[in-house]
Amino acid sequence: MTPLEVLVRAGGGLHDYPVRVAIGIRRDVVGQVREVAAGVRRWAVVSDDNVAPLYGADVAESLAAAGLGGDLLTVPAGEMYKSREQWSALTDALLDAGYGRDGGIVAVGGGVVGDLAGFVAATFMRGVPVVQMPTSLLAMIDASVGGKTGVDTPRGKNLVGAFHPPRVVLVDPETIATLPRAERSNGLAEALKHAAILDEAYGERIVAAAADVLDADPDAVLGVVHRSIQIKADVVSRDEREGGLREILNFGHTVGHALEQASGYELAHGRAIALGMLWEAALGESLGVSGAGVEARLGGWLRAAELPSERIDIDAGEIDDLVRLDKKVRDGSPRVVLLARVGEVAREGDAWSHTLAGDEFRLRLERLAG
Ligand SMILES: NC(=O)c1ccc[n+]([C@@H]2O[C@H](COP(=O)([O-])OP(=O)(O)OC[C@H]3O[C@@H](n4cnc5c(N)ncnc54)[C@H](O)[C@@H]3O)[C@@H](O)[C@H]2O)c1
Ligand SMILES: [Zn+2]
Repeated sequence: MTPLEVLVRAGGGLHDYPVRVAIGIRRDVVGQVREVAAGVRRWAVVSDDNVAPLYGADVAESLAAAGLGGDLLTVPAGEMYKSREQWSALTDALLDAGYGRDGGIVAVGGGVVGDLAGFVAATFMRGVPVVQMPTSLLAMIDASVGGKTGVDTPRGKNLVGAFHPPRVVLVDPETIATLPRAERSNGLAEALKHAAILDEAYGERIVAAAADVLDADPDAVLGVVHRSIQIKADVVSRDEREGGLREILNFGHTVGHALEQASGYELAHGRAIALGMLWEAALGESLGVSGAGVEARLGGWLRAAELPSERIDIDAGEIDDLVRLDKKVRDGSPRVVLLARVGEVAREGDAWSHTLAGDEFRLRLERLAG
């Protein structure tokens, strides 16, 4: 099939790149890398130990058969391995195998592999090309677009990293077949976020397709992935011109990320974001910024995606403390992206988020929790 293509404008003097979505595109890796990075002589494939046997090894074999390297470097699966230690191990492995300036990296896996392998590519020999092949729904619609790479540290997530846009992102909806159902559901949380901030009709389409996406129907996955990539690519591309527009992608993430941290990362990101969207919708309604019924509407969408659809009780003081330690503060006050209505973000002056000064954030959360 002809791939659906979305162009991402990286800005900041960085190169633009296409995201190509097609069922079976993972088998065309050789044609794709030849087209986007003809100067690369040897590609190393980075994957994790879940995804390597499923897809990484095949990708590596195709590259090897074409005389384009094909060393398969595998890291253990899981967020705890998005680390400087794994970055060291991977860069050492590349050096041991004799990779140099004419090398490149193909990342095959979820967002952990994409961020880690992308950061290896950003730094190895001061930067070599990377091709992203996301295999989780979250990585397809979120992590692989935007060029952010990095690793976690004991002090927090994503604290060391670099912008390093890929040459191309290859998205094969078929790989969702082996992804656990709960991970499919988590990915849908970000898709619903895209709909909530920019495209109400898309939200209804996700609801209609949710059961099929959760069953990993490749056509249903393709439809959602394509629209979400268009939305994220559009936001990222317009960001430079429209004063920090990218911030709207944080909808649900001020409260959501704090909930994730408060749980010691027991709560999956997608579920935390679902709850975060409900809390932030409630905040918007209580402030009179959002029209009535926004939270209830989002709850209906989330239910269809098998995500939390009602707010659970929270410790407002703890959430407030965590948010203030996070990046989402301005002059020490929490910032929250609020909806004017479903499908549209409310602006505060020129800003894309609202600043809740003093104790307002905590007090409102307390009142809503009560
Ligand atoms: N760079 C960005 O802009 C950006 C954006 C959002 C998230 N992220 C990062 O992405 C990470 C989360 O991504 P994730 O949810 O994909 O996590 P992940 O990479 O840990 O993948 C989740 C699990 O699914 C497995 N898996 C992946 N694809 C599979 C498949 N097709 N079949 C079977 N198993 C499969 C993985 O091995 C892992 O166990 C976080 O580290 C987050 O910080 C980055
Ligand atoms: Zn997120």
